[in-house]
Amino acid sequence: MHHTKIAGIGFYVPEHTVTNHDLMRHMDTSDEWIQERSGIVERRFAKRHEETTSVLGAKAARIAIERAGITPADVDFIIFATLSPDYFFPGCGVLLQRELGITHTEIGALDIRNQCSGFVYGLTVGDQFIRSGMYKNILLVGAEVHSMGLDYSTRGRNVTVLFGDGAGAVVLQPTDEQNQGILTSKLHSDGTHAEQLAFINPGCHSGYHDKETDFGYDESVEFGGLFLTQKMMDEGMTFPTMDGQLVFKTAVTKFPEVIKEVLDDQGLTPADIDLFIPHQANLRISQFVQKKLGLPDDKVWNNIQRYGNTTAATIPIALCEAWEAGKVKKGDLICIAAFGSGFTWGASLIRW
Ligand code: COA
Repeated sequence: MHHTKIAGIGFYVPEHTVTNHDLMRHMDTSDEWIQERSGIVERRFAKRHEETTSVLGAKAARIAIERAGITPADVDFIIFATLSPDYFFPGCGVLLQRELGITHTEIGALDIRNQCSGFVYGLTVGDQFIRSGMYKNILLVGAEVHSMGLDYSTRGRNVTVLFGDGAGAVVLQPTDEQNQGILTSKLHSDGTHAEQLAFINPGCHSGYHDKETDFGYDESVEFGGLFLTQKMMDEGMTFPTMDGQLVFKTAVTKFPEVIKEVLDDQGLTPADIDLFIPHQANLRISQFVQKKLGLPDDKVWNNIQRYGNTTAATIPIALCEAWEAGKVKKGDLICIAAFGSGFTWGASLIRW
């Protein structure tokens, strides 16, 4: 059976940089608070009306495709991970296909909705398809445009200051080289706290809270939305919400657990890791995990300072930056790990 290697990698972040000082003009926050609590100094925001999630994804994808030595027409499967899609439906996978000019239909497109662990989930799914021999050139993209869906008033400051826009992409191909490629992945989920880190409205769930009419729906229809009411908008219920402390506490437990799991699976230890790329949710979370693993600074790649949390895009952006900086060499053992909304979490070990 083949293994799966990353044959090409690329990333794209919008040009527009938004600093903590820029956010301070809209909400009651401070550069000190944001840096001290999260490590974030600035983030990128997409160009309104031009840079949608699929457009950012396509920019990253073109680089990954070229570096893999193929053309868009060679891609036989697309996996697109995002929590901020262009549309409610269809998903970004087919939009990316169109954006890349892939007109043939000998291709499938799958959308992954696993938020911060979307890339690890996508990588694991893609790995199975390559190993089984079903596909030979899988394009896996993680992309987000958070900036269009955040609350820029003081009410939303605990969430808004943390997020940024960007995209990362990889091309997955089979390899026959022994001990190369994705060695193992482990995925987990726990729906107990699903609403503790969530973007809930609009969604069909909210229809159940209002009185039913003969048609089975309620007064929200007059606002023309999918169960989107004026009350929801007035009360800020149309923005992401987060119990930051619960997320923080759970993340610092689950990261080390799942990393140990993938290492144990391969008979390896933290000392064998050449580069650790944690999902960039909070620099303090990453530093806690780094300490727990006993890794020196030069074996961990953090970029949250410059981009904030770009959710499904975070790991491919960081991996690509590290690769471009010469920190990822053939034979290196790379560990990626993510935790996020759901809660869902996972980790992979990759031999480059
Ligand atoms: N600027 C200034 N003050 C802020 C603020 C902001 N942007 N956001 C929140 N505050 C205030 C709160 O209102 C609170 O004030 P109070 O004490 O008067 O009530 C105070 O700061 C402390 O808030 P708290 O939420 O307890 O802070 P914290 O130390 O837990 O840090 C997070 C907040 C969000 C940075 C932290 O909990 C975190 O990173 N959690 C994990 C987030 C995460 O990983 N999310 C993505 C998952 S993939």
